[in-house]
Amino acid sequence: MPKTYLMYISGKWVPSASQKIFPVIEPATEEVLAYAQAGDAVDVDAAVAAARAAFDVGPWRETTAQERGRILFRIAEKIRAESSSLAELEARNCGKPIVEAEYDMADSATCFEYYAGLATKITGQVNPVPDNAISLTLKEPVGVAGQIIPWNYPLTMAAWKLAPALAAGCTCVIKPAEQTPLTLLKLAEWFEECGLPPGVVNVVTGFGEAAGAPLVAHHDVDKIAFTGSAAVGKMIVKTAADTLKRVTLELGGKSPNIFFADADFENAIDGALFGVFINQGEVCSAGSRILVEKTIYSKFVEAMAAKAKTIRLGSPLDRETKMGPLVSKDQYNRVRDYQELGKREAKLAAGGGRAVAFAKGYYVEPTIFYDVDNSARIAREEIFGPVATVIPFENERDAVRIANDSPYGLAAAVWTRDIFKAFRVVKGVRAGVVWVNHMQPTYVEAPWGGYKQSGFGRELGPHGVDEYLEVKQVHVNLNEQPIGWY
Ligand code: NAI
Ligand code: MG
Repeated sequence: MPKTYLMYISGKWVPSASQKIFPVIEPATEEVLAYAQAGDAVDVDAAVAAARAAFDVGPWRETTAQERGRILFRIAEKIRAESSSLAELEARNCGKPIVEAEYDMADSATCFEYYAGLATKITGQVNPVPDNAISLTLKEPVGVAGQIIPWNYPLTMAAWKLAPALAAGCTCVIKPAEQTPLTLLKLAEWFEECGLPPGVVNVVTGFGEAAGAPLVAHHDVDKIAFTGSAAVGKMIVKTAADTLKRVTLELGGKSPNIFFADADFENAIDGALFGVFINQGEVCSAGSRILVEKTIYSKFVEAMAAKAKTIRLGSPLDRETKMGPLVSKDQYNRVRDYQELGKREAKLAAGGGRAVAFAKGYYVEPTIFYDVDNSARIAREEIFGPVATVIPFENERDAVRIANDSPYGLAAAVWTRDIFKAFRVVKGVRAGVVWVNHMQPTYVEAPWGGYKQSGFGRELGPHGVDEYLEVKQVHVNLNEQPIGWY
C-alpha cells in the first residue's frame, strides 16, 4: 500500500483541511508511488500564518547568522548522510536516472553548505555622506517568502530557494510541484532535528491553481520565488501586482548551443547531445537549438544522429541508464505532440516517437530534427523533453542573430578554439548564462537566471541571497547643535 504523506505546517504533520489527497505517479511504471495532501487556500493560510508568526515574533527573528548557518550545515549533512535513499526516491518520482539523481542530492547539499557559510557574510556598508554623520546600509530579511518549485530537479530547486532565504533570515512557505513532492517532504522530516524552529519552513503540497495561486495572492507573503513555465510566470506577475510583492522568476528557455567549424568535433557532438538530452531534456537551460556552421553541418547532423541512437534508455534505478521516462503523462503527451509537429515543420534525423521497447512508462525516443527554420514552433517554444532542433548558420554574425531571435534568454553555449570569436559571441548573445566549450555545468557559487522572457532575478551565488534581503538606510546625526532652520 503506497504511503500517504502529510504536509508540514508550523512544525506539525497535518492533512489538508479538505481531507483531499492525490496520487503521485511513478513515471517508469505508471503506478501510484504515494499519496500527497491536496492543499488549497485554507492550508496556505495556515502555513503563511505560521511563517508570519515565526518571522514577526520569533524565535527565528532573534537567531544569529551563525546559528542560522549551523542549521543549514546540519541540513546539508543530513542530505549527504541520506543521499542514497533520497536519490532513489527522486529517481523513482521524476523518472530521472539514479546516477543523475545522486548528483542532484550532492548539489542540494552543496547549496545548503554554500549559504550556510554565506549567512555570516551578509554585510551592509558605510556611505560617505557629506556631513558630520554616519550613514549606514543595513541588509534585513524580506520577510515571508512563498516558493514554488518545478518537477525537473525537485530537491535541488527546493535547496536553491530555501537555503538563501534561510541564510537571509526569512521564513518560508514552499510548494513542491504536484508531480514530485516526495523528496522535499522527506527532507522536512529532518528540519526539527536540524534545529529549525516550527513555522520557519512550511511545506504545502497540491496543484498550481489550488495551492500555488493563493500563495501568490496572499497579503502576508512578502516575496514569491518561482521556477516553472513562462505562462504561469506571467500570471504570477499579474497577481503579485495587487499586493506589490517582490517576485523572482526562472522560466526556462530555448537556449542556443552554437558550434563553429573549428571546434573539436568529438567534443562538440558530445556537448550537443549532453546539452539537450540530459535529464530527458527536462532542463530549463536545455540547449534545444543547436546552431551549426554550414561547412560542418551535414557531418554534424549525421554524427549526432548516430550517437543519439546509442543512448541507453531504461529504468531510472538501473545504473547504466542514461535516459529515463518523462515525468508525467501530461509531459509525455506534450512532447509527443511536438515530435509530430516537428515532422511537419522540419526533417527528422533520429527518434521521433514513443520508445516502443517499453510496455509501460512515459518513455520517448531522443529526437533530432534538422533543417529547422528558427521561426518554426519547434524552434521557438520550450518543449522540455529530449527533442533537439538543428539549425545551420553561415557565419558568426548569422549565428548571433539566430541565437538572439527568441523570446527567451536563459542560457547559451559557444564551441570554438578561437578565444576572440568565443568572447565576441559571449558578448553578443543576450542570455543570463553563457558557456564556452561546454554546456550545463552549474555551480552554486555563480549566479543563475535569465534575460528577456526567461524571467528576472538571480539564484545562486551572492546574488541569490540578495533577492531575499531588504536594504535599510540608517542616518546617524553626529552634530549636537539644533538643526537651526526656523
Ligand atoms: P508549471 O509552470 O505549470 O508548474 C511549475 C510549478 O508552478 C508547479 O509547482 C505548479 O504547481 C505551479 N503552478 C502551476 N500553476 C500555478 C498558478 N496558477 N499559480 C501558482 N503556481 C502554479 O509547469 P508544468 O505545467 O508542469 O509544465 C509545463 C511547461 O512548463 C513544461 O513543458 C516546460 O516547458 C515548462 N517548465 C519549465 C520549468 C523550468 O525549469 N523553467 C520547470 C517546469 C516546467
Ligand atoms: Mg502548468
